[in-house]
Amino acid sequence: MPDELPGLPEPPPLGASALPPGTYDGRVVLVTGGGTGLGKAIAAEFARLGADLVVASRKPEHLAAAGRDLGGLGGRVLAVPCDIRDADQIAAAYDRAEGELGRPDVLVANAAANFPSPAEDLSPNAWRTVVDITLNGTFLCAREHARRHLASGTPASVIAVGASYAWTGGPGFAHSAAAKAGVKNLVETLAVEWGPAGIQVNGLVPGLVPHEDMTADIRSNLDRNRSNARSQPAMRVGHPRELGWAATFLASPYGRFISGHTLVVDGANWQRRFLTNPEVVPVREQLGRGPFGAAEPGAHPRG
Ligand code: HXC
Ligand code: NAP
Repeated sequence: MPDELPGLPEPPPLGASALPPGTYDGRVVLVTGGGTGLGKAIAAEFARLGADLVVASRKPEHLAAAGRDLGGLGGRVLAVPCDIRDADQIAAAYDRAEGELGRPDVLVANAAANFPSPAEDLSPNAWRTVVDITLNGTFLCAREHARRHLASGTPASVIAVGASYAWTGGPGFAHSAAAKAGVKNLVETLAVEWGPAGIQVNGLVPGLVPHEDMTADIRSNLDRNRSNARSQPAMRVGHPRELGWAATFLASPYGRFISGHTLVVDGANWQRRFLTNPEVVPVREQLGRGPFGAAEPGAHPRG
């Protein structure tokens, strides 16, 4: 066996597309959280294939980044302030999109909330906040998208971005893992309910895909690992554009018979299992926390 295992090959460079040029000409794609990280990378691939983009999120700096980084790729870009916990704000974002670009054909429900914490440290509001954004927000966006297409009798596509701890549980991320399990389940229900009306619903799960916009909390969690690449069966982490290629395929004419499916793009990381497992390290210890109840420098206050 060679010393340096090659792992899964690197993908084509940024800017390459598997789909024909113009696949999304005349289409409008709404991406929640499309001003940062994976949402922005997914939005970019739709734009390269001709789509007009609507980016919906809370923070002005993220909306500005969408305009700056996605504007030159092909289609038009509309950045709209929207907190996906609020159904009225979602409806208002769709109204603006319809008025300025046309009804969004594709929804990429990508926005989510997450921070690492031992489960017992989570305040009721911390738990509620993550579930409210990640699960409830995804549902409310999908509902708004579907309602408009059900009313007009037009086909549509929904892609909900998930996480693989939907299947496995996520020690250190109880709130997010439970919410993402809900998202995966929701995809399966909505695909059946809305399929007869021509609305396709799928999930898309990124593996470990670092990017410059990662929150400090998530980044410091990754930084605890000596080599994120070598902890993956692929011997490498994912690239944001790999999610963009998967999303643009799923919602394209070539993916029309795929519905109710959650596509995992993670180099088989979540199937990694050992015959003899490494020693258990309690989550508090992994996160550098002291015993529950003791004063912990740097720990988030508990409610
Ligand atoms: C414990 C925390 C906390 C932390 C916030 N809270 N941060 N608790 N540890 N690090 C608590 C607060 O104290 C508060 O509870 C409650 O959560 C709500 O906090 P707010 O700051 O008021 O909420 P809000 O302004 O709505 O912001 C939401 C947020 C924030 C989730 C807290 O981080 C955010 O906006 N995140 C968006 C981006 C994001 O999370 N990206 C990650 C996606 S990556 P109390 O009781 O004090 O009122 C991802 C990767 C998965 O999902 C896989 C990773 C490898
Ligand atoms: P990120 O850069 O932190 O993106 C999260 C986005 O969600 C931000 O653009 C944020 O924008 C938006 N958002 C958060 N709360 C919102 C709200 N209430 N209303 C509207 N928008 C909101 O994280 P990411 O890594 O790109 O993650 C994107 C998706 O991939 C998420 O669903 C995440 O769970 C999933 N994922 C990522 C990885 C990874 O390795 N990166 C792994 C597994 C799963 P505002 O702050 O402007 O609102």
